Amino acid sequence: MRNAEPQTVNPEPLVSLREVTKVYGHGDTAVRAVDRVNLLAYSGELVLILGPSGAGKTTLLSLIGGLLHPTSGSIHIAGTELTTLSSAALSRFRLRQLGFVFQFFQLLSALTARENVELVLRLGGYTFAQARQRAEELLVRFGLGHRLQHLPRMLSGGEQQRIALARALALQPPVVIADEPTGSLDSHSGEHVIRLLRQLVDEEQRTVIVASHDLRIQQVASRVFRCKDGQLEELPALSPSL
Ligand SMILES: Nc1ncnc2c1ncn2[C@@H]1O[C@H](COP(=O)(O)OP(=O)(O)OP(=O)(O)O)[C@@H](O)[C@H]1O
Ligand SMILES: [Mg+2]
Repeated sequence: MRNAEPQTVNPEPLVSLREVTKVYGHGDTAVRAVDRVNLLAYSGELVLILGPSGAGKTTLLSLIGGLLHPTSGSIHIAGTELTTLSSAALSRFRLRQLGFVFQFFQLLSALTARENVELVLRLGGYTFAQARQRAEELLVRFGLGHRLQHLPRMLSGGEQQRIALARALALQPPVVIADEPTGSLDSHSGEHVIRLLRQLVDEEQRTVIVASHDLRIQQVASRVFRCKDGQLEELPALSPSL
């Protein structure tokens, strides 16, 4: 479906960071994990952040996701400055605007695949019946129609990550943040998850921001940044359509 019609250029960035800095701790033990980062990401873009361990990738994603408060600088998501929101407003904002995918899935272990997805939908105001229907649709779409009633521990890593992806997308957030989404998957499952992330960008025009060491993601990225010592540097991207 990609490029079926001429795309209008999206004028407003969905994610905008200006001079964002995060310092952990104080005095002698202070760590400047993110250092004056500027970043704009638009809808329909997959932004990849590469970088060695300790470079600041998770800290940066946590700031974009409103899970951490910056020491200085401003972060706008879909036009809203995160630092102006109260903690209750920030939680509501995160639920609607941001989907999260983590390396170790972070599914609720006592809930089935379907219930993990339904829970987010219920929090988002869906009735029980609506939540069940949408959860099933998403899981079927991600190839898990035969695993609805399984608990996470009964499933492979790749299957668990696809449940996490279904959960992240349940309320159709415009921005999806993925921290090492293939980091604990075998190569085949990793490729499946990478394809699904790219589909979100191509078919639904979402903004996906991924931190990863996985160079395969570079092949589907719209833009690639190297994170080093808390700073970002843009690298030439490979063309995603090749
Ligand atoms: N809660 C914390 N308190 C103090 N320092 C922290 C904290 N979290 C991270 N750091 C430090 O901040 C720096 C960046 O860490 P971060 O987890 O963002 O790196 P990363 O690029 O995600 O690494 P990895 O690839 O290993 O996941 C590191 O020096 C780390 O030790
Ligand atoms: Mg990390």
